[in-house]
Amino acid sequence: MSLLFSPAAISALELKNRLVHSATFEYLAHDDGRVSPELLTRYKNLARGGVGLIIPGHIYVHPRGKAFYKQTGIHEDAMTEGLAQLCDTIHAQGGKVAFQLAHGGRQAPKEVLGQVPLAPSGWGRDPASLDKPRAASPADIAEVIAAFGAAAARAKATGADAVQIHGAHGYLIAEFLSPFFNRRQDDWGGSAVNRFRLLREVYGAVREAVGPEMPVLVKLNGADYTPKPGVTPELARQYAVWLKELGIDAVEVSAGTYYSFHMVRGGVPLNGLARALPAWMRPIAKLKFKSQVKANAFEPLYNLPAAAEIQPALGQVPLMLVGGARTLSEMERVLERGQAQCISLCRPLIREPFLPKRLAEGKASEAACISCNKCFAAVYNQMPLRCYVDGLPEA
Ligand SMILES: Cc1cc2nc3c(=O)[nH]c(=O)nc-3n(C[C@H](O)[C@H](O)[C@H](O)COP(=O)(O)O)c2cc1C
Repeated sequence: MSLLFSPAAISALELKNRLVHSATFEYLAHDDGRVSPELLTRYKNLARGGVGLIIPGHIYVHPRGKAFYKQTGIHEDAMTEGLAQLCDTIHAQGGKVAFQLAHGGRQAPKEVLGQVPLAPSGWGRDPASLDKPRAASPADIAEVIAAFGAAAARAKATGADAVQIHGAHGYLIAEFLSPFFNRRQDDWGGSAVNRFRLLREVYGAVREAVGPEMPVLVKLNGADYTPKPGVTPELARQYAVWLKELGIDAVEVSAGTYYSFHMVRGGVPLNGLARALPAWMRPIAKLKFKSQVKANAFEPLYNLPAAAEIQPALGQVPLMLVGGARTLSEMERVLERGQAQCISLCRPLIREPFLPKRLAEGKASEAACISCNKCFAAVYNQMPLRCYVDGLPEA
């Protein structure tokens, strides 16, 4: 009896199986953030492929939180018509959808924003864009919290089954959670309690907007892998205690920031990644990327050690494990051992949207994805999301 293909419950939300499409940025929305026909096609296909829950790519809640061109937005009411179509498309194929609500923080480049990026603290430059951020004022923080609340209300109105707060990967909420990024000494930094405050307040605004029934999930780093300690598994465990107290419905455990590739362990496509940068930066960037190749080597289920640290704090709250799940047997084993309640997949579903069906029908026992990360390099180069395993086209 397959556990992976047995139903799961995230509070009131019933899923037909335990496979989750982890949020995957598509570079497919209209320039102004509206859902495009290409996005609808992508998610229709994915829903037909049988995955239990679909979390589309991160969706910005505020114009100052837009991290990429052609990123989907939920920052104003004009976005809701397309988002409702997206929900209908997924539901028509028997799928369920959770919107990942996001603010890019200091990782949202000035070029995209047209203004200086927002961060907990104004030190240093982003390792990818080299932009220097500015420290958020209390008024900025209040605006961010309100934007998450308004976005959650829109998500509910569009018919989404759940929302996920993006608290991972070095974006704004993750930055506040991290002692590396967050060097404030006011109410929003200086201690773990204070660094958690933004997520606490965002959760409060989101919960108020969606009511008690609609599941609210969070994606959290189990480890930041920043040059100096940021979120570690021990700190993530403390955050998990507080998330459980707040009433979170599920936690997806991930890792990494723009300082490393731990979010997507596997290949480091040096040329593909460097091409996204201005010509003068490429040689030095290539050297930097090269230095990360070894540390970034693919390992199956690479966030499992951090998840194991966090899970006891969550008790009955479902844990979604993301990162390096590739074979049916390892996924089943994790579920059987109770190490996670759902398995999230990103890159394997880019290559094979029908993988869940094929696994369920015994037509495949593992993903064909080779974790080369050319898909990742592609969206950074402003190319639409797809599997580029046969090579990235020349720019
Ligand atoms: C092209 C690409 C886009 C991604 N976009 C997002 C995103 O929008 N939000 C997010 O939380 N994670 C994003 N991720 C990370 C994935 O959700 C996932 O955590 C990571 O790829 C590890 O899972 P995997 O080994 O199954 O690919 C992205 C990854 C890739 C490769």
